[in-house]
Amino acid sequence: MATDATQRLTIHRVEAPERRADFAEDTREGLSGKPKSLSPKYLYDDLGSALFETITLLPEYYQTRAESEILEDQHEAILDSIPGTLRLVELGSGSANKTRVLIDTILKRQNTLEYIPIEISETTLENSSKDLLRWFPGLRITGFASDYENALGALARDYAAAKKIRTVALFLGSTIGNLEPEDRYGLLSRIRTMLEAQDALVLGTDLKKSLDVLIPAYDDALGVTAAFNLNLLRRINEELGGEFDLSQFEHEARYDEDHGRIEMHLVSKARQSVKISKLTMTVRFEKGETIHTENSYKFDPEQLSSMAQKAGFHLDRTWLDSKNQFGLSLFTAQ
Ligand code: AVJ
Repeated sequence: MATDATQRLTIHRVEAPERRADFAEDTREGLSGKPKSLSPKYLYDDLGSALFETITLLPEYYQTRAESEILEDQHEAILDSIPGTLRLVELGSGSANKTRVLIDTILKRQNTLEYIPIEISETTLENSSKDLLRWFPGLRITGFASDYENALGALARDYAAAKKIRTVALFLGSTIGNLEPEDRYGLLSRIRTMLEAQDALVLGTDLKKSLDVLIPAYDDALGVTAAFNLNLLRRINEELGGEFDLSQFEHEARYDEDHGRIEMHLVSKARQSVKISKLTMTVRFEKGETIHTENSYKFDPEQLSSMAQKAGFHLDRTWLDSKNQFGLSLFTAQ
């Protein structure tokens, strides 16, 4: 079984040195800016990815459960809406726990399936892939340990004309909410470019709701989200020779009503200077000054159809969970 599983797994990597250079450059730029910021994509090193997996288990973080509920209840309906022989591309596959029900159902409808996960954490990608292959004998996995840009580029070049096989792209977890509106359309258009007409995108989006529910989801009682956020500073210390004292920063989650987004910040508890040796820079902080580390946009169901249209898709349908907290939409490539 083990050797057989290995034969069904291919992982393409984007070289680590290249990624480290990006992290250094982006960190320099982000911490030189006013206001200071860091890209949320750097939250997901191995430790950060493990912390995010833990977040999905928190009582306050309703998103994962709501989306799983939709997939559990509606997977037949979703797949009935995309007839034909399928292959699955998943952006930000993580543990791929939510994907299992789709893989399982597709493999009951066709003998074999190619699953193409794109995941920035190579460890996460490898572990989840091996696990899936053990469960599903009919599965073949071609994984990309890289960001979406690189992988989608490679997919567009290598796979564009997979004949008679419909591609279903999965973008779950409302990760799209991390992107600024213009980047959101940029990514959706890139996904569209990789697809043929009638291919599909299944998109998960977190919905606007009461702050009593929203804020604790990003500021949980156990402090896991705080650790997830602070891990960025630990990562700068480890990889870039930073000298951040993590006890001198605290996690903050706020809702920006105008933009309809949760913001995560790291707040400096004191006026301080921090050396980052590999960037040959010293960063100065005022007391209360923040590093903006993430936006997590929340959506109205009404927004989704214009979002689809703008990127060359048609919104077929949106399924909601029983509490109307989360949406899973079927976009068809036009
Ligand atoms: C994985 C981007 C969807 O925005 O809810 C969780 C990341 N940040 N807790 C989100 C996150 C803080 C998450 N996404």
